[in-house]
Amino acid sequence: MGLFGSKSKTLVGLDIGSGAVKVCELQAVGKGSSQRYRLQKLGVAPVPPEAIVDGDIMDSNAVASAIRQVLAEQKIKSKDVAIAVSGQQVMVKKVTFPLMSPAELSESVRWEAESFFPAGQGLDSYALDYAVLEERASEGNMDVVLVACRKDKLESYASCVAQAGARPVVVDVDVFALQNAYEVNSTPGSSDEVVALVNMGANFTNLAILVGNKSVFWRDIAWGGHRFTDKLVEDWGVSPEAAEMLKQGQSAEGRSPEEVAPSLAAIADTFADELSRTIDFFRSSFKVDRLDRVLLAGGSAKVAGLTDVLSDRLRVSVERMNPFLLIEFDDRSVDPAAARDIGCSATVAVGLALRQVGDR
Ligand SMILES: Nc1ncnc2c1ncn2[C@@H]1O[C@H](COP(=O)(O)OP(=O)(O)OP(=O)(O)O)[C@@H](O)[C@H]1O
Ligand SMILES: [Mg+2]
Repeated sequence: MGLFGSKSKTLVGLDIGSGAVKVCELQAVGKGSSQRYRLQKLGVAPVPPEAIVDGDIMDSNAVASAIRQVLAEQKIKSKDVAIAVSGQQVMVKKVTFPLMSPAELSESVRWEAESFFPAGQGLDSYALDYAVLEERASEGNMDVVLVACRKDKLESYASCVAQAGARPVVVDVDVFALQNAYEVNSTPGSSDEVVALVNMGANFTNLAILVGNKSVFWRDIAWGGHRFTDKLVEDWGVSPEAAEMLKQGQSAEGRSPEEVAPSLAAIADTFADELSRTIDFFRSSFKVDRLDRVLLAGGSAKVAGLTDVLSDRLRVSVERMNPFLLIEFDDRSVDPAAARDIGCSATVAVGLALRQVGDR
């Protein structure tokens, strides 16, 4: 099991989030340039609070039971799944190396990776993988993406999936899955657009920035939708369960969504601050002075008014991402209304379901 994985058949995409487990199965239809995907299975199961903390599985039984539940509900027969890791123990970095042989590259990558790790933590505690993104013969150099993930984190995710009766064949990274889900829903072209993909989950936000369809920047931000819920509890004295309902647009404990909207807007504003700081850092480090579009994914993209606040503050078009824009539904196994309801929360699972046994 490599970080990017290894063989050729689409896998079941299994996104293990701290708020919910999402599962997606796609079928490739057609060949070559006319290849499309059909959604076969899509499901979600909640993960109890505190079962995953800071990206670490604290309660393996609870997470395995959510995985087992969603696989059973969707009657998924295949055991081979693609999962993803994210958060603090995963590092993703693009590095430009002079053109060199594969053997030399493998050595150089190890040297480069040393600078990734916190002092005192050696390469031994990390699984390292890399992929060549682009070779430029004219400039004599190449771009390589390096990924390092703590081995104990990989092992705990793999053993939890195994406990649920499935086999993790590919381990991807949330930001790459996000990008793959975006690409499968975009029409190829020679666009030079600068697009930020923002996946806001319960505890983390994954950010990928693409320039002209090439990704150049990835970042996981410890910021998630739970902050909206916490703010409603704090401001309105409601229970966490009621706060969750209010956040999702339903009245609860005598409060209405309209009444609590200013609290959600205040938190959306702090997120806009966080996101603009990261985008400013990207702009100055990569000398890119534009941002054309922000696409918002993840369950928290559904927070009422969030796209408007972000669009006002970042002065750029902000839309919710539809991971099924160019994906058709199998009408025997997928209820379109339910799939639309899950919508942007399924983005990472869709990206994972595109992975095949054997690709890099
Ligand atoms: N309709 C809705 N309106 C607002 N927020 C919602 C809605 N539906 C789900 N959410 C929020 O989305 C979050 C879950 O999204 P998602 O499934 O993308 O997260 P996750 O992958 O489980 O979390 P993470 O990646 O941070 O570990 C929760 O905070 C939940 O409250
Ligand atoms: Mg997530």
